[in-house]
Amino acid sequence: MLYNILPHAYDRTDLSTFKAKYVWFKGDMVPWEEAKIHVLTHAFNYGSAAFEGIRAYASGDEMLIFRLRDHLSRLFKSCKLYGIEIPFSFEEIHTACVRIVGVNEFHEPVYIRPIVYVAGVGIGIGFLGHPVEVTIAAVPFSGYFGGARGIDAMVSSWRKPPEQSLPPMAKITGHYSNSVLAKMEALKNGYGEAILLDINGRVSEGTAENIFLVRNGVLSTPPVSNGILEGITRDTVIKIARDEGIEVQEREIARSELYTCDEAFFVGTAAEVTYLKSVDRKMIGDGNQGQITKRIATLYQRAVMGKLSGHEDWVTPVYSTDSRRTKKEKLEEVSRG
Ligand SMILES: Cc1ncc(COP(=O)(O)O)c(C=O)c1O
Repeated sequence: MLYNILPHAYDRTDLSTFKAKYVWFKGDMVPWEEAKIHVLTHAFNYGSAAFEGIRAYASGDEMLIFRLRDHLSRLFKSCKLYGIEIPFSFEEIHTACVRIVGVNEFHEPVYIRPIVYVAGVGIGIGFLGHPVEVTIAAVPFSGYFGGARGIDAMVSSWRKPPEQSLPPMAKITGHYSNSVLAKMEALKNGYGEAILLDINGRVSEGTAENIFLVRNGVLSTPPVSNGILEGITRDTVIKIARDEGIEVQEREIARSELYTCDEAFFVGTAAEVTYLKSVDRKMIGDGNQGQITKRIATLYQRAVMGKLSGHEDWVTPVYSTDSRRTKKEKLEEVSRG
């Protein structure tokens, strides 16, 4: 395998030997092996599925899901944009996301992946009248970039599709072919991640992360009009920084700022806060994590653990939502459905 010898070929959570007990599938908890779809499913063939990536963190005996409501709210908006009607209520999906961590008895960091997909089986692009199904899986998940806190990035030769072609605010599986092209280009060239420019050459985002630059103590990040997914971590970082009195600007960023900024970092549910050591082999700062990035990364870790003053409600506890019942009783109850 060629890619195993490349320095940044670590971007894979290998689930070949892993099994969670349950996957939430079509409204039920089903054994891991039974969560399967037909090969001619519309979503599998045409990318017609909306999804989310959500993290839950272990805090002692408790598991804390970060900004669950905000992720689900984006999921519903993605579906609205594509006219995909979710056959469950917001609260039903919310409960299922909490349950999937509980029934699997996770006590380590996990990634929760809800997918709403067009489930008709056949040939043809239109999906009028097709059934829509929902699945929610959760798997153990630690560092996205193989645990590296800093990475080398390249500016991709691929551009973010303009809004005229695909609505970037919708998190739709089909949109990710663009990310896959850019990511594979980066990995094959020995970089950890790609930075995509938009169709006009402005900085947009990474393949699964938003980007921030620091110049003269001010944080900048591209606005939603530059083809980005409106990230929840991006929003978290903007709020955290402003609470700290750090100025944040949502503004167009020129490519040359990538090479001349003092600090740069990616943010995302998977990537958390990952600093850029270099872009196109041009070192950023001294190649180490900058002071502002470090401050933001520390505050972010506090936030996901529900310990950031004023933002404790960003986390949803899994096991102790009802303190009158023991964890065992709760688990028995959730596994019964
Ligand atoms: C293309 C893209 N941009 C940005 C992000 C970051 O979004 P979030 O912080 O909500 O995970 C993601 C992650 O899902 C993504 O796939």
